[in-house]
Amino acid sequence: MNAGNFSAAPGPVGVFDSGYGGLTILSEIRKVLPGYDYIYLGDNARAPYGSRSFDIVYEFTLEAVTELFRRGCHLVILACNTASAKALRNIQQLDLQRLDPERRVLGVIRPTVEAVGDITRNGHIGIFATPGTVASESYNIEIAKLHPEYAVSAHACPMWVPLVENRESDRPGADYFVRQDVDALMDTDSEIDTIVLGCTHYPLLYPKIRAAVPEGIEIVRQGDIVARSLVDYLRRHPEMERSLTRSGHTQYLTTENPDKFSSLATLFLGHAIEAERIEV
Ligand code: DGL
Repeated sequence: MNAGNFSAAPGPVGVFDSGYGGLTILSEIRKVLPGYDYIYLGDNARAPYGSRSFDIVYEFTLEAVTELFRRGCHLVILACNTASAKALRNIQQLDLQRLDPERRVLGVIRPTVEAVGDITRNGHIGIFATPGTVASESYNIEIAKLHPEYAVSAHACPMWVPLVENRESDRPGADYFVRQDVDALMDTDSEIDTIVLGCTHYPLLYPKIRAAVPEGIEIVRQGDIVARSLVDYLRRHPEMERSLTRSGHTQYLTTENPDKFSSLATLFLGHAIEAERIEV
């Protein structure tokens, strides 16, 4: 029995983000696990989360996760670093017990941090993320647990999500902000050899970031890392794997106008989709 009275029947994998960024994770997950069903939920009406307080991000994320449970998901991926940084631990430690101890919520920070150890050569890591993720120090804390000897410099890029959400990511105006943030990060540690894009929106700015970052520095995008880690998770948790439906279908939900969502989501995914508006 679960307090939320959620159906025990198998269901889709839930993928949640404040807006469009999680689509960069979903598309990589679907490449390696195409057979499963997915529900993508973007809380576009309340995005961006990056500059919101801890309490609010936790409250909004919990509402979204509960809604995905209600829609049949047994497993929800927080495809959002800000939500992973500010809400995941509370949801895992406090809310799942109450809602349904059999369901699982996973984030994107831990798998990214695990992968970084295989990428860096000198242990000097740079992180680009939202102000909320940087203030939470989640990357610094998680990296210190695995690699206490690493030097971690995290830099907040408050303009990058609005640039992406407003379709400016491939326009010339974005160059200025990207260059400014890359220079600021490199000024804090000139030995950085690996930079993590610690926000799921940032892959949309990748060409501009690549052009601004000095050659030889590895730029880590999270999509395939999170996807591979999900494959591994399902292999280790056959009981969860059995609770997933398989017809290769994805449903797109947004808290904003669905036509607006569909048109930008198409840009992120490279193919047309239809979205439905819901309230959480
Ligand atoms: N995509 C989210 C992340 O990975 C943040 C976007 C936002 O600020 O809402 O952090």
